[in-house]
Amino acid sequence: MTLPYDSAPRRLRSQDWFDNPDHADMTALYLERFMNYGTTPEELRSGKPIIGIAQSGSDLNPCNRHHLDLAKRVRDGIRDAGGIPIEFPSHPLFENCKRPTAALDRNLAYLGLVELLFGYPFDGVVLTTGCDKTTPSAIMAAATVDLPAIVLSGGPMLDGWHEGKLVGSGTVIWQSRRKLAAGEITREEFLETALDSAPSIGHCNTMGTASTMNAMAEALGMSLTGCAAIPAAYRERGQIAYRTGRRAVELVQQDIRPSHILTRAAFLNAIRVNSAIGGSTNAQPHLMAMARHAGAELTSEDWQTYGYDIPLLANVQPAGAYLGERFHRAGGVPAIMSELLLAGQLDGDCLTVTGQSVAENLTGRTSTDREVIKSFQAPMMQRAGFLVLSGNLFDFAIMKTSAISEDFRTRYLSRPGSENIFEGIAFVFDGSEDYHVRINDSALDIDETSILVMRGAGPLGWPGSAEVVNMQPPDRLIRRGIRSLPTIGDGRQSGTADSPSILNASPESAAGGGLAWLRTGDKIRIDLGQAQCNMLVGDDEINRRKAEGLPEVRASATPWQRIYRNTVTQLDEGAGIRGADDFQRISQALPRH
Ligand code: FES
Ligand code: MG
Repeated sequence: MTLPYDSAPRRLRSQDWFDNPDHADMTALYLERFMNYGTTPEELRSGKPIIGIAQSGSDLNPCNRHHLDLAKRVRDGIRDAGGIPIEFPSHPLFENCKRPTAALDRNLAYLGLVELLFGYPFDGVVLTTGCDKTTPSAIMAAATVDLPAIVLSGGPMLDGWHEGKLVGSGTVIWQSRRKLAAGEITREEFLETALDSAPSIGHCNTMGTASTMNAMAEALGMSLTGCAAIPAAYRERGQIAYRTGRRAVELVQQDIRPSHILTRAAFLNAIRVNSAIGGSTNAQPHLMAMARHAGAELTSEDWQTYGYDIPLLANVQPAGAYLGERFHRAGGVPAIMSELLLAGQLDGDCLTVTGQSVAENLTGRTSTDREVIKSFQAPMMQRAGFLVLSGNLFDFAIMKTSAISEDFRTRYLSRPGSENIFEGIAFVFDGSEDYHVRINDSALDIDETSILVMRGAGPLGWPGSAEVVNMQPPDRLIRRGIRSLPTIGDGRQSGTADSPSILNASPESAAGGGLAWLRTGDKIRIDLGQAQCNMLVGDDEINRRKAEGLPEVRASATPWQRIYRNTVTQLDEGAGIRGADDFQRISQALPRH
């Protein structure tokens, strides 16, 4: 392909620090302290590219911890290609453990990485990714600074097994939680199953948010072909770490930058791939945030226009049966993309970090296991993308319609023949604590025609936007075989969940969105045909309720929570930082002392 950049030899950014004749005094100061771990002035002044390794692994982020080892192979690759590695820590983002939610820290990690990439002498960077938000935060930062950058995914854990059955990360938790509520297993059995789902190093092995976001990085063209799905413990993971290091140096030599790769066409490709893999609903805010910082146009409607009609091709939990190892052996993300390309559903001309186009990368990368990666003509399911809904409860929300069961259809159809119109009675919870305290209260008249609503769980309300919308029904309903109720909320749900939920409602309740004025007992109508979701409450009554004020949310507990609340956008916009997208491609503007 014709390359859009100028790869003529030129002066490197790092030379402004280390080899600047106009600033002999400062240059000496910059150089001297790097010597104290054995680096020599000759290396730093050799004119070789300095490649950062943004290290996301630590004891605090177990999903990414093996990057501490992989970085050795990255360094080898950088050195062999004629570069100099400098490894540094990025802000840890551990999905399962950070309170009130790791989503609060995505923008903090982004800001931190922008400062590091901008303020230190890097010519390029390897972004080590894995656990959910580590991928979007790193790509957002690389897009803002526009330094040559390449993603190295950490890869999923090996497949988990429990009593002869595959058990996948997260998904097994949601399933076991229902079994526990139905009295089918004990707490001890619950724990054992969960532990069996995590048999090795790596991130979640289901198509949850981690696997999804690494697939998105690959679909966008930000990682080497096939990188996303290689299990963390496979020898190929170390090999691709080496090749990623090598390629980072070449990216600097060729001056291929995120701005050449992260185009609107690349984001539309990612949306389509997300549908085909049965990807996480969290891809919506993360892709939106990445696009904002890359300066690429991406709208809320694009999810439906380009993503909704794409069929589900990956037979991977939670939408399917298998886990990361089988997915990788079947061909991984390239095999999925290959199907879409052949069906005319992918822009094959997009440039990627390989220096080749998407189409060139995919030559010969078809599915080798049709049980796991289906053909476009004979998919797992038609129309597997997100439906974008609006109405008087919110301006924007998404629904994974592929999760709607037959049982759900029969229970909520408002009248025979109206296949796409559902009605139910709202039960409103203000935050997850309220839900946990009250869900099993027998005074609450929740039955199989109820719709559970969670508010106060958006970026402002929580703060950070929590994965709490996938609420399970009261235990007494589960014991009667009602395993899920429709849920609506201004928060998110885990990418590993399998509930028919209406999520990411924007504007959220805490920002004065329609959910704030909903009351328990109101009727809600969901019209999938018209993509509408409304409370059947008159305008006069809604205005009367507005006078009662917004539902209360908890106070900010840390300085960052307050700063976050003052700067965050709504989930439809990616819950990014207001105004930060004014800063684009800033690597050319060097800081001066
Ligand atoms: Fe880290 Fe799932 S909890 S990848
Ligand atoms: Mg999650």
